[in-house]
Amino acid sequence: MGKLDNRVAIVTGGGRGIGRGISLVLAREGASIVLADIDRVNAPQTAQEIRDLGRQAIVVHTDVTNPDSAEAAVQEAVSHFGRVDILVNNAGVVGQHVGGGNITLDDWDACYQVNLKGIWIMSRAMVPHFKEKGGGKIVNIASIAGRKGGPGLAHYCASKAGAISVTQSLARDLGPGNINVNAVCPGLLWTDMWRQLEAMIGGDETPEVVDRRQVFDAFLSTNCPLRREQTPEDIGMAVAFLASEEAKNITGQALNVDGGIELN
Ligand SMILES: NC(=O)c1ccc[n+]([C@@H]2O[C@H](COP(=O)([O-])OP(=O)(O)OC[C@H]3O[C@@H](n4cnc5c(N)ncnc54)[C@H](O)[C@@H]3O)[C@@H](O)[C@H]2O)c1
Repeated sequence: MGKLDNRVAIVTGGGRGIGRGISLVLAREGASIVLADIDRVNAPQTAQEIRDLGRQAIVVHTDVTNPDSAEAAVQEAVSHFGRVDILVNNAGVVGQHVGGGNITLDDWDACYQVNLKGIWIMSRAMVPHFKEKGGGKIVNIASIAGRKGGPGLAHYCASKAGAISVTQSLARDLGPGNINVNAVCPGLLWTDMWRQLEAMIGGDETPEVVDRRQVFDAFLSTNCPLRREQTPEDIGMAVAFLASEEAKNITGQALNVDGGIELN
């Protein structure tokens, strides 16, 4: 028996990286999965991996920044599976530039729209169904970058601090409707997002930063007490716990899964 037998979960950005890991863990715990992703290439592959586990999965092309798209995703999920029990707001971006003087208005807007407003848009679309069926679980993927500001990442850090804040507000608003709202703050995961970040930090033209994985490893070895990177499966297991009945009395919390990098 899994923690999430007979549940249905929507995972935004579920096609690759952390979202893929979350989707596979939730499926392993018994859930059927709706992959709500703007990407059209990776999500069908992840859906097939879930079916190979013997679970059900559908892909719904979704842009979390667009309220009509969010509404349509929820409606399609409910009409396909008859219900939705869990919403995981995982979709995220880091923008095209890092560095105090390099961040553009477009970078700022992209982080705000996807990482923060997207959580609210998807939750707003989901809540009427949760209220109608007497409850539900929302798990937002924030970041340890939301715990304190970081150099050159004002746009990303601010959006992730906002993600923690909106988690707390929604928990207070939705608790009386038996809706738990929590966040997971991942630490360092070597996904496409981090590879993109390392490329931006290194500068594509900088010859000495050839193997950018070394930069990631160096950061881990100096900043992470457990001295190891986190994996999408680690984040998935934390999400599965928060989305399960084991966490029925936990709401408004943000759980770091970061090997001890941040201690609050
Ligand atoms: N990688 C890390 O070290 C790390 C650390 C802390 C937090 N996070 C957060 O975890 C989440 C996943 O990160 P990742 O590393 O897997 O990134 P990723 O870039 O590998 O994957 C992001 C996913 O989100 C989807 N997406 C982007 N914009 C979207 C939109 N408008 N609508 C729907 N889907 C959209 C992408 O298509 C992709 O599938 C993000 O919220 C990220 O900020 C990542």
